Amino acid sequence: MKAFLAPIHGYSDFAFRMLCQEYGAQAACIPLVSSTSVLRDISKLKRIDAHPQEKNLGIQLFGISPEELGRATALLDETFPFVSWFNLNCGCPSERITECGAGSAMMTEPELVGQSVRSMKNATSRKVSVKLRISGRQGETLELCRAVQGCAGVRRRLRNCPCKNHWAGIPGQRGLGNHQNH
Ligand SMILES: Cc1cc2nc3c(=O)[nH]c(=O)nc-3n(C[C@H](O)[C@H](O)[C@H](O)COP(=O)(O)O)c2cc1C
Repeated sequence: MKAFLAPIHGYSDFAFRMLCQEYGAQAACIPLVSSTSVLRDISKLKRIDAHPQEKNLGIQLFGISPEELGRATALLDETFPFVSWFNLNCGCPSERITECGAGSAMMTEPELVGQSVRSMKNATSRKVSVKLRISGRQGETLELCRAVQGCAGVRRRLRNCPCKNHWAGIPGQRGLGNHQNH
């Protein structure tokens, strides 16, 4: 089984990623960065601390404009030739992210998610994946999976989004409280 270090904002920096790699992590990801800030001034983004020594490293983006996400991917592609893949965050429940329509707020916008992934894919020859949550409405999850068909991978978070009671009506599923659901 492959061990994958999940992106943890504020924790999974270069030192932590290298340590996890030493202990067996086969892939790691730089936590979410907004496509707008990448385009504003990439040199100021200390959080993108990618290092050529890292293997199978990804960079996670969030944003709501497919065009901007594509341009940000192209810039990252050019700046970090040793990065292996890019990821679109469609799972973050933080209000700071969802209030602008990004992160888990995109779960209800399969068309936008599909366009964003296509735009990112067109901007790079490297792999593009998506991280999303399972919605309590099965149809919604399936629609999202269809929208991102063709991307390198879908990382599902087996948790619902705390903003909504997605699990209502699904037998045996209660959903998690905010403190459990990161
Ligand atoms: C403090 C904190 C920061 C996180 N930052 C991110 C992030 O930047 N991007 C992301 O996709 N997930 C983020 N997550 C979610 C984790 O990557 C992971 O999906 C979550 O802890 C649940 O683990 P699971 O995969 O076992 O369900 C964060 C979680 C925590 C607790």
